[in-house]
Amino acid sequence: MTDNHPHLDKQSDDIRKMFAGIAHRYDILNRFLSGWVDTHWRRLTVRLAPPTMVGPLLDVCTGTGDLVLGYQRKYPDRMTIGTDFCREMLHFAHKKALPVQGPKPLFLEADTLGLPFGDNHFALTSVAFGLRNTQNPHLALREMCRVTRPGGRLAVLEFSMPTWPVLGQVYRWYFQTVLPRVGQAFSKSPASAYGYLPQSVKKFPQGQELCSWIREAGWESVTHRPFTMGIATLYTANKPFVG
Ligand SMILES: C[S@@+](CC[C@H](N)C(=O)[O-])C[C@H]1O[C@@H](n2cnc3c(N)ncnc32)[C@H](O)[C@@H]1O
Repeated sequence: MTDNHPHLDKQSDDIRKMFAGIAHRYDILNRFLSGWVDTHWRRLTVRLAPPTMVGPLLDVCTGTGDLVLGYQRKYPDRMTIGTDFCREMLHFAHKKALPVQGPKPLFLEADTLGLPFGDNHFALTSVAFGLRNTQNPHLALREMCRVTRPGGRLAVLEFSMPTWPVLGQVYRWYFQTVLPRVGQAFSKSPASAYGYLPQSVKKFPQGQELCSWIREAGWESVTHRPFTMGIATLYTANKPFVG
């Protein structure tokens, strides 16, 4: 499997294995640990980050496919593709797409750091809670830009830490103490994605800093909008027509 992914190094392989270990419980744990708010954030993303032009839609690090399924429901006439390098996560994405009436998203095993698509192909490229997990987010943003059509759109949904003083403290306690324990207990994963989650969110840039990363990767008109008092943030941008 590693041979399919030219960029897959040790760290990426660990990430892939970690998600393979929790794939069977990923959806239910997401719902439970977020109080079902994660589904609301993806719905908001589909509504607030519509494609700016005709053409197919791509969701990278698609996992079990929730965001690409949201885009497919809203834009049933478009071709939609979800990619991820974790086969076990894609297995559940496939299963969820089975009852969908009409055209379904296409799910492909692919590394976000070396997407198997030509330049300027997609009208919109999205990623939800995945950018932070890639081994090289700068390269991931550049790859997403490369495969997007000039004038096309980027949507990045990512966790952030709330800036409100009291809520921030309560949330930090929940996020750093409760969530990893519950997540680990229920997923029965030895390499716990839920222990790693708070650390990775703490280390990952948010707000203006992530906007700068997005600009550096070649995007323009970058915006960010906090959801639910800043627990998650939606970043949008466009690919320039020239340059
Ligand atoms: C936290 S999950 C997010 C899944 C989904 N987007 C969601 O909204 O629930 C992160 C996903 O990113 C995938 N991932 C991490 N690095 C990747 C890479 N370099 N290429 C492809 N997928 C990657 C993992 O396999 C995992 O399925």
